[in-house]
Amino acid sequence: MSRNTLTFLKTYISSPDVTGAVAPSSRGLALALTSPLRAHKGPARILEVGAGTGPVTRVIGECMGPDDRLDVCEIQPELADVLERGPLSEEPLATARKDGRVRLIRAPIQEVDATNTYDFVISGLPFTAFRLELVREIVDVIRRSMKPGGVFSYFEYIALRALGRNLSPKATRQRVGPVSEFLDEMIATHQIKRQTVMLNIPPAYARHLVFTDSQNDE
Ligand SMILES: C[S@@+](CC[C@H](N)C(=O)[O-])C[C@H]1O[C@@H](n2cnc3c(N)ncnc32)[C@H](O)[C@@H]1O
Repeated sequence: MSRNTLTFLKTYISSPDVTGAVAPSSRGLALALTSPLRAHKGPARILEVGAGTGPVTRVIGECMGPDDRLDVCEIQPELADVLERGPLSEEPLATARKDGRVRLIRAPIQEVDATNTYDFVISGLPFTAFRLELVREIVDVIRRSMKPGGVFSYFEYIALRALGRNLSPKATRQRVGPVSEFLDEMIATHQIKRQTVMLNIPPAYARHLVFTDSQNDE
């Protein structure tokens, strides 16, 4: 097990409801999450939320053009340290960071004060581990931060919500049920594409959404 994976696992053990996963995402999942970004032309503003040890950050770095800008948001200081030492100090992100095109935000996404700013928001946040009020608050912040037509990409583990709703202790069922309803409605209204990634622990869906009735539309 690599040092970064061990640090990630330690944060899961100490704060399971913040880390929300036992292992970093695979390259396959990172490629799926970045597929809309890889298809874009022209300068883009990108926000990565919940970057962890940076498997998705690395792939974002690989597909950034010379005029693209990336903000990386991570709430846990020990994981932000891993990002500093790892992907953000390695090429191509190291040079982009020196040029001022990459920023690390060591704070919760709820504190990011951006309106109509990002073309792509790529999230690793574990919505299923959160309470409904927190999910609502975070989705509001993300929607406000996006330009009209921007793409919001995130992942969820296949069947995890169904397990949480049906086979968990009562307290978990009571928390996951309303979160799941909220996510189902958001997906039904805004999802433009879903990719299944079996080569991930555990297998996951990468979901891509466009908020057509964006809070920032005129
Ligand atoms: C499931 S992990 C995903 C990590 C990484 N993106 C990956 O795919 O391996 C979720 C990450 O979100 C971070 N996180 C949780 N709540 C957050 C918040 N409110 N704001 C920013 N980051 C948050 C956690 O610290 C953790 O690093």
